[in-house]
Amino acid sequence: MPPKKRRILVTSALPYANGPIHIGHLVEYIQTDIWVRFLKMRYPERDGHKVHYVCADDTHGTPVMLRAEKEGVTPEALIQRMQVEHLRDFQGFHIEFDNYYSTHSAENRHFAEFIYASLRDKDLIDKRTIEQLYDPVKQMFLPDRFVKGECPKCGARDQYGDSCEACSSTYSPADLINPYSAVSGATPVKKQSEHYFFKLSDLRCVEFLREWTRRALQTEAANKLDEWFKIGLSDWDISRDAPYFGFEIPDAPGKYFYVWLDAPIGYMASFRDLCNKQGLDFDAYWKGKETELYHFIGKDILYFHALFWPAMLHFADFRAPNGIFTHGFLTVNGEKMSKSRGTFINAASYLEHGLNPEYLRYYYAAKLNGTMEDVDLSFDDFVARVNSDLVGKFVNIAARAAGFIQKQFGGALADCAGHIKIDERQVGDIGVLLESREFGKAIREIMAAADRVNKYVDDKRPWELAKDPAMKSELHQVCSVAINEFRRIAIFLKPVLPELARATESFLNTRPFQWSDALQLLPAGHRINDYKHLMTRVDPKKITALVEANQETLKPTAPPPHSQLRHALHQENIVETVNQTPAISIDDFGKVDLRVARIANAEHVDGADKLLKLTLDAGELGTRQVFAGIKSAYDPEQLKGRLTVMVANLAPRKMKFGVSEGMVLAASGKTPGIYLLTPDSGAEPGMRIK
Ligand code: 2FM
Ligand code: ZN
Repeated sequence: MPPKKRRILVTSALPYANGPIHIGHLVEYIQTDIWVRFLKMRYPERDGHKVHYVCADDTHGTPVMLRAEKEGVTPEALIQRMQVEHLRDFQGFHIEFDNYYSTHSAENRHFAEFIYASLRDKDLIDKRTIEQLYDPVKQMFLPDRFVKGECPKCGARDQYGDSCEACSSTYSPADLINPYSAVSGATPVKKQSEHYFFKLSDLRCVEFLREWTRRALQTEAANKLDEWFKIGLSDWDISRDAPYFGFEIPDAPGKYFYVWLDAPIGYMASFRDLCNKQGLDFDAYWKGKETELYHFIGKDILYFHALFWPAMLHFADFRAPNGIFTHGFLTVNGEKMSKSRGTFINAASYLEHGLNPEYLRYYYAAKLNGTMEDVDLSFDDFVARVNSDLVGKFVNIAARAAGFIQKQFGGALADCAGHIKIDERQVGDIGVLLESREFGKAIREIMAAADRVNKYVDDKRPWELAKDPAMKSELHQVCSVAINEFRRIAIFLKPVLPELARATESFLNTRPFQWSDALQLLPAGHRINDYKHLMTRVDPKKITALVEANQETLKPTAPPPHSQLRHALHQENIVETVNQTPAISIDDFGKVDLRVARIANAEHVDGADKLLKLTLDAGELGTRQVFAGIKSAYDPEQLKGRLTVMVANLAPRKMKFGVSEGMVLAASGKTPGIYLLTPDSGAEPGMRIK
């Protein structure tokens, strides 16, 4: 029987379009990219196999909508910009997708509508009226994360509507004490609305999922699912009310598909786009049984991928995935990534600090396995391991042997056939470890091989042989063995270190490595090129600088020049900044009448480049008209209803556009952006600030 021709489609989770890629995300993209690169080497197209790796930006939902609004751009413009940034970051870390697309695409709309219609036709969609928190000012329903208030368990302030960061308890937004909308500051009210549900509790879904789970999940994930099955599956709310950035549900005006409904469908949309470009057979991958489909995800999104997603696919007559590969979270120096510790590091920042992306690829590979365990990035260990393994062991082999081959033998290698016994089992074993995502174990095997070669060179002492003309042939032999072994290790490491492998292919003057090349040696007489440094050591100073640059510190004393409070001026073209202000007495401070004010109205001012005209409700002080220099940062619509802080006893000033009867306060720094102050929830218009 001829060997099976494999056709494999692999995905990584789609990153949200409302934020940058950070080193936590990279665990997954690097893990998937290594796996795909290995598969492509092991099952090459020239042997009739096909492996595809697709991804896309996850573009829909409230956070994207609000962020775009805050930036004063359309969601479409925001997601386009984010996609460019994401692609730049992925490329920077050598993540090589065959296609990168967007969930805001015609293909995704088509599949979302198709799957929804199929589920509805199978009587798996239900309509129910539910009650949710609603922002009466912003006139929108509030997702849990957009309701804040005091934790019902420990009383901590400013906690999200789903969980408390202080005591880790979880609850529903309606449980919060003194809840407020994180969008407008208004007190939310309860409001009813009709929602669409996917009937996951339907026996057909439960039976299908119980069966599918047994074959597609890691043990830990399957155990987690068993827990969920025991609790009982709940129906899934798949609709959201306008305003919402997403796809409107065809038979339900004003109702939109929830972002998580169309996010995984984005895998199909991206692949459909690839099919359009390359003439591939879409149905073979999404309907046929001969192809393989694998999703890499983080453990926080297992529920979506192991319950909703396979059930959606199955009941829309698509195939369910062969495997969901779930990884754990990234911790840095043993703790959650943290802005105050400087360990919440964006991909771009890592690269800007001149750190080689392959250091991180190697380090993650060395720490990854096929389980859902968390991965720890310890910076000391990172520096030590990369320097010791990659520079001290691997690259060193070439550095020790290449000079002799070049100078004494014109770059030509000796025949090594009788001197290297290729261990086919080792090649197979390392392949099996990589395919089963046991990258850490594979790296240990590979580094053990590097240790053996270094020991061989230590024992043979080529630098001594070079001194004795009678030993020239021995020198040639020893250095050729070292170069051949170096090449085999580079082949094993190619999925992890693609750039280093490319430089090695060029140094060794060979075609791009395939996995089976590890079973061959370079022939006698093969000429290699001059050796150039393949990798330099990690400079620990760069790590220190990286962490310092990412550290967000709280400055308790007088504000430094780059973070001043700036009065959002009532007069165009004047910016009052206070760098080093002399100390004032409490009495001086008391002269300023600071009040909470509600922005009752906000509008553009004809002919003014920077000003917005605000009508402020200052409670007992009545209504005030104020001109504020905040036009570059705020859309007037977004300000209406919001609470802010005003100086109420500033003498009225006659300006070009009218009289300004006060001033609102905003923060700004060196980087662009103006940030209006907002009091905590519970504050009322007219309250004094003291
Ligand atoms: O958790 C997240 O970052 C989501 N954007 C992942 C979506 S994965 C898939 F379903 F699209
Ligand atoms: Zn709490």
